[in-house]
Amino acid sequence: MRAIVCSEFASPDQLVLSDTTSPQPKGHEVLIDIKATGLGYVDALTVAGRYQIKPALPFIPGSEISGVVIALGSEVSSLKIGQRILAMPSYGGLAEQVCIPAVKCIPIPPALSHEGAAGFQVNYCTAYHGLVQCGQLQAGETVLILGAAGGVGVAAIDVAKAVGARVIAAASTPEKRRSVLALGADEVLDYSAPDWREQLKSLLDGSPLDVVYDPVGGAFSEPALRSLSPGGRFLVVGFAGGGIASIPLNLTLLKRCSIVGVNWGGYIAANPSEAAPVMQTLMDWIESGQLHPAAGQSFSLQQAGSAMMKMLNRESLGKLVISQ
Ligand SMILES: NC(=O)c1ccc[n+]([C@@H]2O[C@H](COP(=O)([O-])OP(=O)(O)OC[C@H]3O[C@@H](n4cnc5c(N)ncnc54)[C@H](OP(=O)(O)O)[C@@H]3O)[C@@H](O)[C@H]2O)c1
Repeated sequence: MRAIVCSEFASPDQLVLSDTTSPQPKGHEVLIDIKATGLGYVDALTVAGRYQIKPALPFIPGSEISGVVIALGSEVSSLKIGQRILAMPSYGGLAEQVCIPAVKCIPIPPALSHEGAAGFQVNYCTAYHGLVQCGQLQAGETVLILGAAGGVGVAAIDVAKAVGARVIAAASTPEKRRSVLALGADEVLDYSAPDWREQLKSLLDGSPLDVVYDPVGGAFSEPALRSLSPGGRFLVVGFAGGGIASIPLNLTLLKRCSIVGVNWGGYIAANPSEAAPVMQTLMDWIESGQLHPAAGQSFSLQQAGSAMMKMLNRESLGKLVISQ
């Protein structure tokens, strides 16, 4: 099969497509014909050797896929040949085929395309865990989403709208702001402008800012926290901007607000039984039309490295997906 094999940690633009051996499913595994692979900022950092977890070399990157079951291990009875599934294989997603334990495969509802499914699990579970479980976001409340045009951001917009919240989306270019409005954000602001807190104040027009969802970090975190209303919740989701803010703790006392770390992977590692109910809720919301997961920019397998470069260079739009 063809795959992107990473033999040394390097800039993603060094990645090339090569021929490698097709995997064979063990007893508890299924073989998947991959149709789409979701790319996240973490994949780009992993390839560059800049992520906290470093896989043994060589490895095939790609941690989120959707595809069709084409062979069953001898012990598998829960899945059928031909079934459409999504899964997180940890690695191996940037290939034509991958073997995955059957228990990790989730059937895709008819309303969800392969491209939507491949980018779904991490970002939507993070959004649900962050906004609903950690942030207690309620219908009628207002949430500010930073980095709203990124993969994590667009899922947060969708989940916040499904909850019934008002969404103010922060993005750095007119194209990104147009795209998040099209995806359902109620209002947008340009947080690359020095006056962005003034823009926020004027959008709020005296109404409270209840929740901040922050996958960007750096210089944006403290002003965003300062914009929260008393009793607000600040959700620490990621650091795509590269910097990690040091927050004066007196702000939490003055505002009676919470700063909550959102770590979906860590949460389900500690509470494995919590993953399935969250996923079921999200699937139910798709079937009832409350959620609309959509791929952002789409690329071929050969273009995986340049797609990752777009993320590192802040040029990507939405959840990037490799389509096959
Ligand atoms: N906590 C969790 O469980 C969890 C789960 C998944 C991902 N994450 C983290 O969430 C973060 C975002 O991931 P993602 O997949 O959404 O990434 P992404 O698609 O690349 O989006 C990141 C967004 O951050 C903004 N940004 C600001 N400064 C940037 C910079 N210097 N370089 C790149 N982007 C910059 C960009 O929007 P503008 O140009 O509009 O500023 C971009 O759209 C990452 O740190 C990732 O590790 C956390």
